[in-house]
Amino acid sequence: MTSTDATPSDQPSAATEPVVSVITPTFNERDNVPLLIADLNRALGDIPHEIIVADDDSPDGTWEVAEELARTDPNVRVMRRFHDHGLSAAVLDGMSVARGQYLAVIDADLQHDPSILPDMVDRLRDDGADVAVGSRSVEGGGYGDWSASRRFVSWVATFIARVILRVHVTDPMSGYFMVSRSTYERDAGRINPRGFKILLEFIGRDRSLNVVEVPFEFRNRIHGETKLNRSIIRSYLLAVAELRLGRQVDPAFLLYVLVGIVGLAVNSVVFAIAEAAGVPQFNTGLNEAIDPIYGSFLLSVTVSILVVFVLNNEFTFWEQRYTGWKLVPSFVVFFGMSIIGTLVHVGVFTYLQNIGLLLSVLGESGARTLHNLIGALIALIVNWYLNTTYLWRRRLS
Ligand code: GDD
Ligand code: MN
Repeated sequence: MTSTDATPSDQPSAATEPVVSVITPTFNERDNVPLLIADLNRALGDIPHEIIVADDDSPDGTWEVAEELARTDPNVRVMRRFHDHGLSAAVLDGMSVARGQYLAVIDADLQHDPSILPDMVDRLRDDGADVAVGSRSVEGGGYGDWSASRRFVSWVATFIARVILRVHVTDPMSGYFMVSRSTYERDAGRINPRGFKILLEFIGRDRSLNVVEVPFEFRNRIHGETKLNRSIIRSYLLAVAELRLGRQVDPAFLLYVLVGIVGLAVNSVVFAIAEAAGVPQFNTGLNEAIDPIYGSFLLSVTVSILVVFVLNNEFTFWEQRYTGWKLVPSFVVFFGMSIIGTLVHVGVFTYLQNIGLLLSVLGESGARTLHNLIGALIALIVNWYLNTTYLWRRRLS
């Protein structure tokens, strides 16, 4: 990493030592950076501060615009990062060179209102808080004109954070917050620099933190576009799983199980609909020997395998996903593997029924339920093995 520090290291005296360091991660924000810096200077006024632009060598030359501003504004420092790109990594890099007592993080796209920064400082300095979160969900805050679907996703993500990670914040997804230097120094070493949920990394790992929320109204982005694409839901769930379980379980396996559960639900719904609609049975022509095959069964199994394939391809195994015409052969392979899984399921179930495992303890239907469950679990593991070994082959990391 190369950093261009606008303030020569021999210059700052005690008088210019910043109280607040504002770190702003940037990627293609050249039109926003000058406006942001002006807003930050205005909002912070007399409070000695520095503004650290942590740019990932943006193709649009954001770093160049920022360096130009730094020539005349001694508060501005620019990091042009060539390696380890990513939002969290950029923020952590910015924090590592910050000199203030309070370290703030703000989006560069003017969606976060800088005028609450002095309030955040007060809450940390005078009220003894460790973290101040810029919150859209507390009284006085707002989401601007976010669409219903985006608010719903945010609501679900917040719910997950509250239930699974037990963080008591109304807006744990916020990218706008301030931490005290002591909090940073105590917790930074444990933080996972991948991903984008840097606030969650602080408050999800350290339960002893005193966290307060300061309301603000989320604003619309005028210049540039969002960089957080549809893979963020997945990265978010992976981050939550890692925060909760550490590295005991491969978090991708949890996504795989989640997709499996969705598949089961789809299966039941399609089956019920097909039954209600009276989908015909297929006569095998061997009436006596083999029962007719239920159309609703075939339909629901096929639809759920298709849904599970798509979800795993687009979600669980995002990095190894197939696109274009390769989707066809990979679906065929997946279908075949699913049939193997089903055979394993049926095989294990039949075997356990034959040996009558725990039959005397659980009774007929209890034993059947258990045998079915064991069959499903073994099939799940077999499928996971087949899928990750032959279809979505994963790089060893
Ligand atoms: N250095 C660097 N590297 N900066 C990045 C990167 C990256 O890979 N990706 C995004 N940024 C910068 C953007 O330039 C912007 O300043 C800020 O990070 C936020 O990125 P946006 O692309 O504007 O994110 P958003 O508005 O869709 O998402 C916001 O809402 C999320 C959910 O509520 C952000 O505030 C997120 O932090 C927040 O979680
Ligand atoms: Mn944004």
